[in-house]
Amino acid sequence: MDDRLVMTGMRPEDEDIEMSLRPHHLREYIGQDAVKSSLSIYISAALKRHDALDHILLYGPPGLGKTTLACIVAAEMGQNIRVTSGPAIERPGDLASILTNLNAGDILFIDEIHRLSRAVEEVLYPAMEDYALDIMIGKGPTARSMRLDLPKFTLVGATTRAGRLSAPLRDRFGIVFRLQMYSPEELSQIVARSAGILGMPYDDDGILEIAKRSRGTPRIANRLLKRVRDYAQVRGNGRITAQVAAESLQMQDVDDLGLDRVDRALLSAMIDKFGGGPVGLDTLAAVTGEDAVTIEDVYEPYLMQLGFIMRTPRGRVCTPAAYEHLGKTPPATVKSENTADAEQTQLF
Ligand code: ADE
Repeated sequence: MDDRLVMTGMRPEDEDIEMSLRPHHLREYIGQDAVKSSLSIYISAALKRHDALDHILLYGPPGLGKTTLACIVAAEMGQNIRVTSGPAIERPGDLASILTNLNAGDILFIDEIHRLSRAVEEVLYPAMEDYALDIMIGKGPTARSMRLDLPKFTLVGATTRAGRLSAPLRDRFGIVFRLQMYSPEELSQIVARSAGILGMPYDDDGILEIAKRSRGTPRIANRLLKRVRDYAQVRGNGRITAQVAAESLQMQDVDDLGLDRVDRALLSAMIDKFGGGPVGLDTLAAVTGEDAVTIEDVYEPYLMQLGFIMRTPRGRVCTPAAYEHLGKTPPATVKSENTADAEQTQLF
């Protein structure tokens, strides 16, 4: 199997398209306005001082543009970027070798930084704080530590789970940004930009149809766009119209709010098997056959954003809106019990 397919789960041609759709400069980046305006100030200031940018932590659900932003930071600073991820850095020596190969001003991007081991994290602390690498020479009673100077670099860490980061690591980032889900209007601009790059003719309401079903996530918007393009070229005349987009997305089992088969299976399991909840995450994972981490990181954020599920001290609960979306009638008790649970949630 192609290595890249194993790594990203994406077809190589889709991955190439994905790369071509990424904005390379802050001015091309749509949405995340608060992040963009702060970042442009910090970048301008660092450039004026001829200094490296402070370390940056980006967090938020997957697909919102953390890697893209890291690449933009490198481009705007006029520096090179080295991209790696928490699970890829297995031993302290792996990180030491990455750090000693950096040049002054380089950006080091570590995706899924919450997955670094404790031993690797310990190498990162002096590297981030003092631009130094502490290495042990020898073993036993004669062992001694030696400090190597590192070039002044910028670490950009990305995580879907800021809460999983240890406090000492989190505290070493001078700049912390939380990325927000995108509005349908912002996603429409992103899809229109991508359609333009791919040379696809479109109607504005065709683009909006894709944007509305993209779960607030540019990566999903661009993925749906590619499949709608296939459909338009085979079943239509190549133009993305509202009808072509709706038919293609329906064929992919993406409903008018962007929920797919897994979202609906999760909601149905909660409603049909647990009376709407409360139900624990691991139980939900077991009955649906989905991975608990995937449910928590990928599916839940959007279902919570829609107000379809809530987290309570006793587990996840479905709201009446979820029942209605699935065409089911909420039992009278769901409303009062789940609202009481949610009110209690405020206390936690
Ligand atoms: N492609 C993916 N994300 C984007 C964004 N935020 N702005 C412009 N194009 C994008």
